[in-house]
Amino acid sequence: MKAKLLVAILFLYTSSIFAKEGMWLPFLLQQMNEKEMKSMGLKITANDIYSVNQGSLKDAVVIFGGGCTGEVISDKGLVLTNHHCGYGTVQGLSSVEHNYLTQGFFAPNQAGELPCPGLSVTFMIRFDDVTSKVNAGIEEGMPDTMRSRLQLKNIETIEKEAKVKTGYDAQVKSYFYDNTFYLILSEKYTDIRLVAFPPNGIGKFGGDTDNWAWPRHTGDFGLFRIYVSPENKPAAYNTANKPYKPRKSFTLNIHGIKQNDFTMVYGFPGRTSEYLTHDGVNEVMNVLDPARIAIREKRLNIMEEAMRQDEKTFIQYASKQAGIANYYKKWKGEMLGLTLNNAVEKKKTEEALFRKWVNADAARKVKYGSVLDSIAACYARQEPIIKLNEYINEAIWSAELIKKASLLSQIKSAADTVKSLDSLKRYATEHTTFLNSINKETDQKIAMALYPMYSSAIASNELISTTYLEQLYANSFLSSTEKMNQLLSLKTKQEINAAIDADPAYRTWHYYDSVQKGNLVKLKASTYRINSFYGRYLKALQEYKKGQQFYPDANSTMRVTYGKVEGVQPQDGVTYNYFTTLDGAVRKHNPNVEEFQLPSRLIELYAAKDYGRYAIQTSKGKTVPLAFLASNHTTGGNSGSPVLNAKGELIGTNFDRIWEGTMSDILFDPNLCRNITLDIRYTLFVIEKFGQAKWIVDEMKIVQ
Ligand code: ARG
Ligand code: GLU
Repeated sequence: MKAKLLVAILFLYTSSIFAKEGMWLPFLLQQMNEKEMKSMGLKITANDIYSVNQGSLKDAVVIFGGGCTGEVISDKGLVLTNHHCGYGTVQGLSSVEHNYLTQGFFAPNQAGELPCPGLSVTFMIRFDDVTSKVNAGIEEGMPDTMRSRLQLKNIETIEKEAKVKTGYDAQVKSYFYDNTFYLILSEKYTDIRLVAFPPNGIGKFGGDTDNWAWPRHTGDFGLFRIYVSPENKPAAYNTANKPYKPRKSFTLNIHGIKQNDFTMVYGFPGRTSEYLTHDGVNEVMNVLDPARIAIREKRLNIMEEAMRQDEKTFIQYASKQAGIANYYKKWKGEMLGLTLNNAVEKKKTEEALFRKWVNADAARKVKYGSVLDSIAACYARQEPIIKLNEYINEAIWSAELIKKASLLSQIKSAADTVKSLDSLKRYATEHTTFLNSINKETDQKIAMALYPMYSSAIASNELISTTYLEQLYANSFLSSTEKMNQLLSLKTKQEINAAIDADPAYRTWHYYDSVQKGNLVKLKASTYRINSFYGRYLKALQEYKKGQQFYPDANSTMRVTYGKVEGVQPQDGVTYNYFTTLDGAVRKHNPNVEEFQLPSRLIELYAAKDYGRYAIQTSKGKTVPLAFLASNHTTGGNSGSPVLNAKGELIGTNFDRIWEGTMSDILFDPNLCRNITLDIRYTLFVIEKFGQAKWIVDEMKIVQ
């Protein structure tokens, strides 16, 4: 009976693990996935998706900013991404007079687009396997540290040579825990301008309440444009720059979608850990997630309270709050999903069978016999290291004023040259910008709430008293412009250094900075060790499951994932239909709850049913489709990714996952996990009808 159950569980697990799960390397699709993709409905070739010899879809998919994906959708360098991906940038462009977060922004014409300092868009040029070059000189039995030093040196050489030879940015990335290395050539554009951004009432509709959940009605998109030199090359911002002419741009398809249509998502998923052992899952569930959730909960309560008080604070904290709240909620969902789906038990069952396979062969036993135990030992040893690292990052550095004492440290080490007028001005400006980005009272409240959490979890003898923090926030050079000017007007290096050494924010920063640095050395060593065991484990797994396709964990490099448009039955008695509409958004509208306030102009369009060519007919009448569900394996970083149909045409923009499937970074279950896509028809409807910016729609290629 027990054995039967075990087999049944295992079958469920393994049959799902290689079903539609996977974030595949675009340059290996032909060899690994094309056949299956075609059988699921794909109408184009792997070569149309990725090629280095001819224009392919890869040329229209970009890294947007630091951690999102975007896609080129016109031959004038127009880039579509998510509202939440542009949120920090647009916050920076906003003021109480021009609050583009609450009011939205639609450029009246190309000349009216707004420059976005600091924003970039990066294109992929090519990928090459450099594993043997990275491993050059490495011999069997070499100690870990020696091996790692050699690899790092080889990587540095490869990158340098590639950069010189091609002129592109070059980076070597590790896959499968250092079993494979690819050289990635890319090109970064830095004159990016804002074209269209719906107000929060559309782009962030449903807020944190609806985040990570279905049914969803968030119009989560923003439009930007790449500007280039007259030679069509990357260039710093310049009024003389012109719109970028891309090698490839997506065609938009507004014909509509139905259940079971093939879809794929092309983008830059950030990080997954699909091959964790049960000890790894335990670390996430018992150490990492609980700490992060508890700390962020306190921090968010304080921030949100302050944001409700006045608009300036709202703008200052809008983007920080969104980022913190997003992962706070995701980790909660992840923990719940791992628990409900018995992730630890499933992994244990897998591991038991793996051990049996290893032990059945003497040679295998020598090679792999101890690998799981070695991994377990690493986890046991690194628990305090992991915990400390998390508490410093999440609790200590959440006090922004104290974190900013790194500036005092810079001034200190540059104190002999600080008197040059330029650097004086630079430090003063950086400090002013910083002070404008925080609300000091709020920051102090956060420190007062979170520092005790650190001391009770990590070191009870390190409790920093409330009085000390009060004085720190009142007296530090960082606490006001006047005080900073006092510091910068000191005459000699000795005076400056002595003053900084006595500064309470600096002293606190210095203490935790050295604690963190010491811990990071340990963490790095531990990570290297555990990864080398995981590398061996994965090699063994590939032998064990010969014939099955393996994909590497997400590592912020380009991937393709594919699946189908489909709803889901996420809980007993609950069925999620595969799409939502504008009608559902209007039904959620609530003038008394900020997260659910639709702009009145949208409600007027709804009342007039003024939907143009974006309307669909449902049993309840005419409406606009809004979001849809599909079974694509996505993660953070896939935000803004193009969601494509069988012909490679754009049908929407990826922006989230459903609550019941948030554990997919660790345990993907095709019967539960769904990605959420914003239907391109809603995006176009909002631009054309709500934003009255048809001129933007006119430059796109749209097929019906
Ligand atoms: N959950 C989505 C993603 O991971 C959307 C986040 C939008 N942010 C928010 N706090 N509502 O990025
Ligand atoms: N919203 C996520 C992001 O910012 C994508 C959704 C997910 O994590 O699946 O990338």
